[in-house]
Amino acid sequence: MVHQRATQRALLLSATFGLASAVAVPEPTAVPAKVEVRAPIVTPAALRFDGRHSYLQKRDIIDDIKSGVEGYVESIGSVLGTDLPSFFTDGIPEWFQSLPTGSEVMSSLGIEDGDLEAQPTEVLNIPPYANWTNQGWNVRFRGNVYKMPEISQDKIDDLANVFLIDTSVEELPPSQQEQARNLTRSIFIVQQDDVEVSMSLEPAPMQGGDGEPGGGNSIEAPGGAQTLTLPYETTELGDFDVFVPIESNGLLNGNETNNVQRLNVYTNGTLTGNATAFLLPTQGITFISDIDDVLRVTKIYDPKEGLLNSFARPFTPWENMPEIYANWSRTMPNDTSFHYLTTTPEQATRLYMDYIYKTYPGGSFDTRPLNFSDISVALSIRKFLLDKIFQTFPERKFVLVADTSNRDVMSAYPQMAHDYPNQVQCIFLRNTSATDSDNWFPYDTSGFEGLNSRSYMFFVHADDLSGLDIANGQCLNESIPQNVTFGVQAEVLGIHGDSAGGKLQSGATMSFVVALVAAMLITL
Ligand SMILES: *[C@@H]1O[C@H](CO)[C@@H](O)[C@H](O)[C@H]1NC(C)=O
Ligand SMILES: *[C@@H]1O[C@H](CO)[C@@H](O)[C@H](O)[C@H]1NC(C)=O
Ligand SMILES: *[C@@H]1O[C@H](CO)[C@@H](O)[C@H](O)[C@H]1NC(C)=O
Ligand SMILES: *[C@@H]1O[C@H](CO)[C@@H](O)[C@H](O)[C@H]1NC(C)=O
Ligand SMILES: *[C@@H]1O[C@H](CO)[C@@H](O)[C@H](O)[C@H]1NC(C)=O
Ligand SMILES: *[C@@H]1O[C@H](CO)[C@@H](O)[C@H](O)[C@H]1NC(C)=O
Ligand SMILES: *[C@@H]1O[C@H](CO)[C@@H](O)[C@H](O)[C@H]1NC(C)=O
Ligand SMILES: *[C@@H]1O[C@H](CO)[C@@H](O)[C@H](O)[C@H]1NC(C)=O
Ligand SMILES: *[C@@H]1O[C@H](CO)[C@@H](O)[C@H](O)[C@H]1NC(C)=O
Ligand SMILES: *[C@@H]1O[C@H](CO)[C@@H](O)[C@H](O)[C@H]1NC(C)=O
Ligand SMILES: *[C@@H]1O[C@H](CO)[C@@H](O)[C@H](O)[C@H]1NC(C)=O
Repeated sequence: MVHQRATQRALLLSATFGLASAVAVPEPTAVPAKVEVRAPIVTPAALRFDGRHSYLQKRDIIDDIKSGVEGYVESIGSVLGTDLPSFFTDGIPEWFQSLPTGSEVMSSLGIEDGDLEAQPTEVLNIPPYANWTNQGWNVRFRGNVYKMPEISQDKIDDLANVFLIDTSVEELPPSQQEQARNLTRSIFIVQQDDVEVSMSLEPAPMQGGDGEPGGGNSIEAPGGAQTLTLPYETTELGDFDVFVPIESNGLLNGNETNNVQRLNVYTNGTLTGNATAFLLPTQGITFISDIDDVLRVTKIYDPKEGLLNSFARPFTPWENMPEIYANWSRTMPNDTSFHYLTTTPEQATRLYMDYIYKTYPGGSFDTRPLNFSDISVALSIRKFLLDKIFQTFPERKFVLVADTSNRDVMSAYPQMAHDYPNQVQCIFLRNTSATDSDNWFPYDTSGFEGLNSRSYMFFVHADDLSGLDIANGQCLNESIPQNVTFGVQAEVLGIHGDSAGGKLQSGATMSFVVALVAAMLITL
């Protein structure tokens, strides 16, 4: 029975993903295709999606975890972790994977094509980065085109409630109600396919005073004004993601300046598609930062808290990370830039961007695109996004920041240092279990084996990062003891890798430890 439940979930996930296929990153063509605006075509749902029902099922997340794991523990030895619900091993972001899209939203709300005609087209324009090439500046435009159906507040509250555990929208304070409703509205949107997207670019004026802090020492671009149309229409899921060479029109060459140039990007036909593009010099340092549990308090390892912190409560910084980042932004060389890379679903991007730009230096952004074909691709999304930015800036160096409670970080970050040994300047990982005893998720440090032990640091408090000479390669704060063993770490069980015997390495081993921890929790 337990297995059946997990299997149903897997089916729901794969069916949802069955609507999509590989990530859309079409190569730019020399001659932009002739495009015309067409009425959005709604693709038939591959499965009947009853949002309410599915989410209600998920509301029992803790029971799900327990029952999923009981079943898992029973069958341990024969199963390699595939029966374990993904949110158990990968946290809430993975659990959010199966958010409804397009036609699923329409059928779950009982709305029809015509109902949306009167609604304005909106565009999520994700702040892009650009590299300097022989053809000039090359900007990665990325985002999503959608419409927001009109949904009554009662209905929105019903929908929001299924994301909350042991509470409801009615019980929240008013400001939290507003955020829960806003986020729910941004999930229940209808993506628009085959839409032509045009942008206009112009220099982004310097923010007066303390406005958007830093962004390194980025400057207002001394040119670059133009309009352009993306070479492809939006995909079936409303996404666009394409590198487009732009006209210089007075921009500085990327190989002849140390400054990051900023351009405003306006999407034609909507006031919702504004973004800032960051044109990065060929060389320099880019901070790539995860957000949850390092730039804000999320507690993704505690589902009830994680959901409240994501859905309702205002985003709050973790310790004094904003000061650490502001100092980096002020004191690092001019060629420094910031990039925020989270695998939170695209639908929640605005909430994340809004928080980041109020709290941290300006920079480009990446979130989980919608267009994925299967779970195996979806689970490697972080690596995919990291590879893309590393390959776009082969001469730049990267400082990678995140926390240990994130399983894909723990494999992808050290892997980047193995794969691109000259491009990783430092890896900083917040040791979440050191300050938060609620975090019982095991994590795996085996990826760090073989890396220069002075190139990464497991830190405990934000202040541990202050005063490091990162530009000159100082990644280690000597006063923070590092005692890393390479393998699965499960503090609650006193497991710290396998320093004595053979190396722990297979996924099965990780799953085994996960099951042990879970078994322990169930018996608590
Ligand atoms: C910068 O790049 C442009 C285009 O590739 C090239 O023409 C120019 O000579 C380069 N400048 C330097 C200083 O290398
Ligand atoms: C909710 O959305 C409205 C309209 O976009 C916005 O004005 C408001 O600030 C948002 N509130 C919160 C708490 O996110
Ligand atoms: C996803 O992207 C691929 C490659 O660009 C494209 O062929 C496919 O139609 C897209 N699928 C969806 C569902 O948008
Ligand atoms: C922008 O959109 C308007 C209609 O909304 C259209 O008339 C105009 O041609 C578009 N401009 C570009 C550059 O695509
Ligand atoms: C986007 O930019 C336009 C032009 O400056 C402005 O009118 C509009 O209010 C901006 N939209 C938002 C959401 O800030
Ligand atoms: C950094 O950029 C600022 C603004 O353009 C400039 O005044 C300063 O000289 C630059 N510093 C260096 C070291 O290039
Ligand atoms: C610029 O980025 C594109 C897309 O990632 C990449 O293919 C290209 O090699 C990069 N160009 C340079 C000169 O780094
Ligand atoms: C994280 O902190 C815990 C508790 O202090 C410690 O047992 C563990 O070894 C640390 N992990 C790493 C990788 O430093
Ligand atoms: C190292 O960590 C300590 C404790 O958080 C902090 O006070 C100090 O500023 C950090 N930096 C250096 C370079 O020691
Ligand atoms: C940030 O820089 C200011 C001014 O240089 C300094 O007073 C402060 O201690 C620094 N804070 C941290 C956390 O590094
Ligand atoms: C380092 O970790 C090992 C294994 O957990 C432990 O036995 C040892 O006492 C630790 N050493 C220090 C100096 O903390």
